[in-house]
Amino acid sequence: MMDQGNLYMFYHGFCLPKLAYTVASLKHFESFQVQDDDIFVITYPKSGTTWMQEILPLILSGGDLTPVLTLECYERAPWLGAVHATKVVGKLSAPRPFVSHMPYHLMPSTFFSSKAKVIYITRNPKDVVVSYYYFHKMASYLHNPGTFEEFTDSFLAGNVMFGKWTDHVKSWKNPDLGDRILYMTYEEMIQDLRGAVERISCFLDRQLSEEALKRVAEQCQFKTMKQNNKSNYSLVAPKIMDNSVSPFLRKGR
Ligand code: A3P
Repeated sequence: MMDQGNLYMFYHGFCLPKLAYTVASLKHFESFQVQDDDIFVITYPKSGTTWMQEILPLILSGGDLTPVLTLECYERAPWLGAVHATKVVGKLSAPRPFVSHMPYHLMPSTFFSSKAKVIYITRNPKDVVVSYYYFHKMASYLHNPGTFEEFTDSFLAGNVMFGKWTDHVKSWKNPDLGDRILYMTYEEMIQDLRGAVERISCFLDRQLSEEALKRVAEQCQFKTMKQNNKSNYSLVAPKIMDNSVSPFLRKGR
């Protein structure tokens, strides 16, 4: 890993940015009391997490746009394990939506005995590495990626936060979860967003009217999300995330 300086802490062999994760926040994660109706969106970084932070709250609100217009994406569906989640988790009402990049075996022990559902999103790793590269350029809490070739070498070696893409995907292809897990791809969401919203709604036993499905799909389109200040990270200080270097919602394809 290049230029990592003092940016990262290490957790079970992974590097995690110190800006978002601390020993205390990870302890909170490990002892977290998962409820049966909790919903986890699990992704490898840059696979559509923020997109799901838009989709999931809208499904849970029955298509009412209020959550995505009033709350920051990380308040609607917090990053379990990160510092910020420890502050907002108490404000969530059931069913609680969470996002996480953790591999299966590092989930809190109460997750395994619960009935909590998981939506696992994968994205073509060739697109993940490109998105990840530009993310490293704009986020000051991640190391300078160097050239694209250098960053690709780090990515393939797993010397990036949350390690190797292949290990992550394999860890979640876990038959133990049975019908508690829904596998979706970023690409199928691109191809048919309304259909993807409907599939997720069915998985969560939520019936949305045709009108609500259309409204959610419309709100979760890339061009709409790019305009939503509560979802595009434009309100974060440029010294942390510099959208003028590369916008967080970059190309979306
Ligand atoms: P690009 O950098 O390729 O544009 P994550 O939220 O997991 O960090 O993933 C970010 C990636 O998802 C970025 O990819 C971002 O643009 C893309 N993304 C976010 N919302 C999207 C949407 N509504 N439609 C398509 N892509 C979206």
